[in-house]
Amino acid sequence: MPKTIIISNRLPIKVQRTEEGLTYETSEGGLATGLGSIYKQDDNIWIGWPGTFFNDEAEQQQVTQDLAEQSMHPVFLTEAEIRDFYEGFSNETLWPTFHYFSQYAVYDDAFWEAYQRVNQKFCTAVMERAEPGDTIWVHDYQLLLLPSLIREQIQESTIGFFQHIPFPSFEVFRMLPWRKQILEGMLGADLIGFHTYDDVRHFLSSVSRIVGLSNSQGFIDNGYRTIMVDAFPMGIDDKKYSELAKAPDTKAKMEEYRQALTGQKIVLSIDRLDYSKGIPQRLQAFELFLKENPEFHGKVTLFMLVVPSRDQVDMYRQLKENIDELVGRINSSFRTITWNPIQYFYRSFPIEELSALYSIADIALVTPMRDGMNLVCKEFIASKLDKTGVLILSEMAGASRELADAVLINPNDLGQMVQSLREALEMPEEEQKIRMKHMQDIVQRYNIHHWVDIFMNRLEYIKLKQASMATEYLSAEERDLLLSSFQKAKQRLLFLDYDGTLTSFTKDPKKAIPDEELLSTLECLAQDSKTRVVIVSGRDRNTLQNWLGHLPVDFIAEHGVWFKERNGEWEMPQSLSDAWKDEIRPILELHVSRTPGSFVEEKDFSLVWHYRKVDPVLAALRARELSNYLLFIASNINLQVMEGDKIVEVKNSEINKGIGSTRWMNQHPHDFILCIGDDRTDEDMFRVMPEEAFTIKVGNERSLARFNLDNAKQVRKLLKSLC
Ligand code: UDP
Ligand code: G6P
Repeated sequence: MPKTIIISNRLPIKVQRTEEGLTYETSEGGLATGLGSIYKQDDNIWIGWPGTFFNDEAEQQQVTQDLAEQSMHPVFLTEAEIRDFYEGFSNETLWPTFHYFSQYAVYDDAFWEAYQRVNQKFCTAVMERAEPGDTIWVHDYQLLLLPSLIREQIQESTIGFFQHIPFPSFEVFRMLPWRKQILEGMLGADLIGFHTYDDVRHFLSSVSRIVGLSNSQGFIDNGYRTIMVDAFPMGIDDKKYSELAKAPDTKAKMEEYRQALTGQKIVLSIDRLDYSKGIPQRLQAFELFLKENPEFHGKVTLFMLVVPSRDQVDMYRQLKENIDELVGRINSSFRTITWNPIQYFYRSFPIEELSALYSIADIALVTPMRDGMNLVCKEFIASKLDKTGVLILSEMAGASRELADAVLINPNDLGQMVQSLREALEMPEEEQKIRMKHMQDIVQRYNIHHWVDIFMNRLEYIKLKQASMATEYLSAEERDLLLSSFQKAKQRLLFLDYDGTLTSFTKDPKKAIPDEELLSTLECLAQDSKTRVVIVSGRDRNTLQNWLGHLPVDFIAEHGVWFKERNGEWEMPQSLSDAWKDEIRPILELHVSRTPGSFVEEKDFSLVWHYRKVDPVLAALRARELSNYLLFIASNINLQVMEGDKIVEVKNSEINKGIGSTRWMNQHPHDFILCIGDDRTDEDMFRVMPEEAFTIKVGNERSLARFNLDNAKQVRKLLKSLC
């Protein structure tokens, strides 16, 4: 039975070496706690690092065996890999960059090398266990190259990728020296998920600007596959937290805390030690609150739990010192014999104790500077059985997009944080309950099971979509059929578009000059007296004449304005007017003035605005604007406006490639037709072709053609096979 393979850097269980031997504990962090409770269905497995350096082979075997009982498979990292891949590239390069702390980012080639090697190591581990039909689900920023590495090994595999941390704006992401390789690594997946729509936007914009692939409503076409990018806000196992809150052990623990903190309002703060969590800022806000509100002295306790994390990384070590100092200063300034303003713990707590804390807390103070999602705030909500309690939440946390009933704050605004603390402490119970109810509805509905289901549902959908397109691909059998029909035929017509079909797309249209390979292929085909090669192009006749005029081929130029038979002269069979150009040209020129990098091409009966070199986001906007405007004018003067590949073209409405190629079919008896094109103007040709014609669309967009080929390279290969 096909299974799901989950892969993340950290396994949900961390193995530690103690004097008593190996211990197995739950890992901290949203990824592990979120997915940890649900992955054990069917034959699913989880591949990841057990969190400690193991050198000894016997020990490695022991760990492997113990974890296998829980369907986990360890990837052991060497000390150097932990330093350069985990602490280095993952947590000193990617983590700060993705959390908008670029000033902390280290750019070190040795880290990058290690990152590539370890991603490869994970790939090997996946290959050892993957079987046909398995779904592979890669998680988070430590494994951004893995989707492509797996794809290289198994082309047809089903790969989902989910990033648990933010994806930064292009302006920040572009700073990474390895930005392109990173994006290409991620694009190996079929489905790429983020927590919020903003992350999706940022990712798509980086892909467009750095890799040059545009998207249509979140679907990226990379020439081979359609990749879906979408937002999937992660939820929690809400039932686990509400059940825990009812459990007798939790109740006993709550009682213990209540007695220790009698008469106190409890403000709860729980995070891993991380500069992205805004802990010092939170402490400063609490200090200011105490300064400004002496009436609350002795009545409020900040219960602050900081879970040790990445303590070998410098920035984390410094942060720890900073927090220790701040807590010390605040406590010594405000403490009384009976009251300590901050109860500070630097360790991890078992889930039963967390549950007790969530249950008794009056306020959860969750104020990260940046956070992909933040599950702590959702766990607090799910634990509130009587619906009292207030959540103060940073708008920089992904969770703020869903939890609009929290008291939302900007963590850089100390004054606002102080104000929000007061507001929360004084909020009437009735209002607390209304807000909490709304938030609980969301946490319950969009829980972790829903998250997994919807992600898997979309992954299945994109695979079906890919498959429906792939059936149109020119398969080996159809290729054989095409070849044998070609060989049998005595009067063959080959309609071939030029740009994007016979040559790949270039930034400068003037540079798409035919190379030796193309010239010799066309010559070889056209020399056969049984074959008529017709170049059907939107290009002007002079260019076609200069580039290909010496070959025994026919031409349909400017989309069907000009015609030329092998040894004949250029002719224009219908009388056309170009008077409209004087009206349209200034509009296009104005667009060029407003859009650096674009230019106007003038042909006998058409005007084209080209934008290949323009910033892609701006270009898309301007192209839309231009075609809307032109469409409005064009309907009155019998013109056609077409959006092609990086162009907007205006031309007389009575010409198109379909009318042009029909003329050829009428004039030349034929018993075989091959018609190949890549953009929208070629659809006019496909539309008029007889049913038995072999029509091929280059690229995998939907088309009227019967078959698809990936690119110009494959077209050339096919044509060569006809020689
Ligand atoms: N957590 C834990 N032990 C602790 C404190 C917290 O396991 O002592 C868990 C907490 O319950 C939550 C996770 O760690 O599920 C933190 O996830 P979050 O998304 O809030 O932040 P992250 O650490 O992923 O940045
Ligand atoms: C965040 C990341 C996880 C990571 C966790 C704990 O939740 O998104 O990928 O596992 O922090 O960090 P650590 O470095 O201890 O794995």
